[in-house]
Amino acid sequence: MQINGHKPIYLKKQKFKMYNSRPMNITIKNKEEIEKMRAVGKITAGILKFIEPYIKAGITTIELNDICHKHMIEELKVIPAPLNYRGFTKSICTSVNHQVCHSTPTHKKLKKGDIINIDITIIKDLYHGDSSRMFFVGKPKIAGKRVSDISYECLKRGIRVVKPGIKLSLIGKTIESYAKKNHCSVVEDYCGHGIGLAFHEEPQVLHYFDEKVETVLEEGMTFTIEPMINIGKKKTLLLADNWTVVTADHSLSAQWEHTILVTKTGYEVLTLQENETI
Ligand code: MF3
Ligand code: CO
Ligand code: CO
Repeated sequence: MQINGHKPIYLKKQKFKMYNSRPMNITIKNKEEIEKMRAVGKITAGILKFIEPYIKAGITTIELNDICHKHMIEELKVIPAPLNYRGFTKSICTSVNHQVCHSTPTHKKLKKGDIINIDITIIKDLYHGDSSRMFFVGKPKIAGKRVSDISYECLKRGIRVVKPGIKLSLIGKTIESYAKKNHCSVVEDYCGHGIGLAFHEEPQVLHYFDEKVETVLEEGMTFTIEPMINIGKKKTLLLADNWTVVTADHSLSAQWEHTILVTKTGYEVLTLQENETI
């Protein structure tokens, strides 16, 4: 999700609402809605597993898109949320190497040593599931593995602090501190987001600390955490397709994303992989 730039106002930082302890428009999901979020989250996770064997040198990201699209429509009978979303032209996002997030699939072939984020968002029974992870094409180079590992650790540390009563800003604080300790930067131009009936709802989930965010978590909130971590500087550029985001210094970037539910005692990861522990 984009914070700044040429996007409709509700996707931008809205300081006034964000600083309230519970902005009026953060939705609290009831039991039935949580069941639907669980179901769509599980299918979202399954698509990331499904696409894994196809990620090899020589395949293009448009081919990966087409394979996912067909699987979503014909087998899973779910809707690819990115397709036609605010002018996005494909069904998945594929961000390679210095691409940060939201990148449009292209005809360029993947090559050995590339790192790639695949971001899947689908709609089932009106509710959204959103998850992304890094994959390596062949054996990763040291820097590629390192930035991916740090980004994943940032996500897990951010998730672990989630429980009712904590400040939303603790997530960003936790992520930023781990990234900085490892000499990486956190992208500030894009953030995680509330999710449910809408792809992007309030609150905005920043991956760095902002003391002005006073939102407090409550049971039944659902949102994503999706830190974008750069080996180099945090600054990003938006390409001419209006979606593909790259690091300004061309350094490698990595992102991992889960959809999270705030439970009575902590969190539930709605897009957890079968063999994954947080
Ligand atoms: N899935 C992305 C996110 O995590 C959003 C992509 S918007 C799209 O928020 F239009 F590019 F799909
Ligand atoms: Co997201
Ligand atoms: Co996503």
